[in-house]
Amino acid sequence: MIEKIDEAVRYIRERSKVQPEVGVILGSGLGDVVDAVEVDVAIPYGEIPGAKASTVLGHQGRMIFGRAAGRRVVVMQGRVHYYEGYEMNEVMFLSRVIGRLGINQLVVTNAAGGVNTSYVAGDLMLISDHINFMGINPLRGPNLEALGVRFPDMTEAYPESLRAIARAVAKEIGIDIKEGVYLALSGPTYETPAEIRAFRTLGADAVGMSTVPEVIAMSHMNIPVLGISCITNMAAGILKQKLTHQEVIDTTMRVQKQFTELVLGVLKRI
Ligand code: HPA
Repeated sequence: MIEKIDEAVRYIRERSKVQPEVGVILGSGLGDVVDAVEVDVAIPYGEIPGAKASTVLGHQGRMIFGRAAGRRVVVMQGRVHYYEGYEMNEVMFLSRVIGRLGINQLVVTNAAGGVNTSYVAGDLMLISDHINFMGINPLRGPNLEALGVRFPDMTEAYPESLRAIARAVAKEIGIDIKEGVYLALSGPTYETPAEIRAFRTLGADAVGMSTVPEVIAMSHMNIPVLGISCITNMAAGILKQKLTHQEVIDTTMRVQKQFTELVLGVLKRI
């Protein structure tokens, strides 16, 4: 596995001379940050040895190297998900690749359902912590010693110092930003209303089907993460309406501008 990761790293180094400082993973429909990148090279996932292409609508599937907000960045436009049928090693693969490329920080974003009833669709939430309910720990299996220790600490997976920066940026640009716990499920069904009530009792503020594998890969590699959820809809049973992927896409389109401003402001300061 480590050989596969390093083969991808070598391939990328041949195609881009940019040594990224910060990685950004853009979730469903949140790809506009890319427009602000002075692009050195954009590599479709399918061209990277060992990488998988995303099959989901709203996920582009390319890795963009360049500069944004004065920083050398690698932006992953789209991700692969566990529910698509990939193994966890495949879901974590490109995060590990950008980790090996030498990023110092990762900004990870996603679309999520609001579990906290004080939220509304369109809110942005900083992830203060997560609950892994995907039914598997992505690091299960032989430990890749070259990446990190067997039993990684998760106490500060989302350091307060990065959240403080994001809060300051949000304040400056007039976003009433939320902060809460992201609970991850494998999907692909949305949750039942009973599940959402249970998750609220357990301390979840938002629910989604991604991010946790990438964050665990980063914790393993000792790379700090800033997580931002776009609350695209209220979770099942809160409102008298059914959940659709269309609502998720519509909301990300609606908040795209604000979201992009937040991410660029964060990049400038971290
Ligand atoms: N549940 C799970 N994942 C999601 C949701 C949701 O309500 N909205 C966007 N991603």
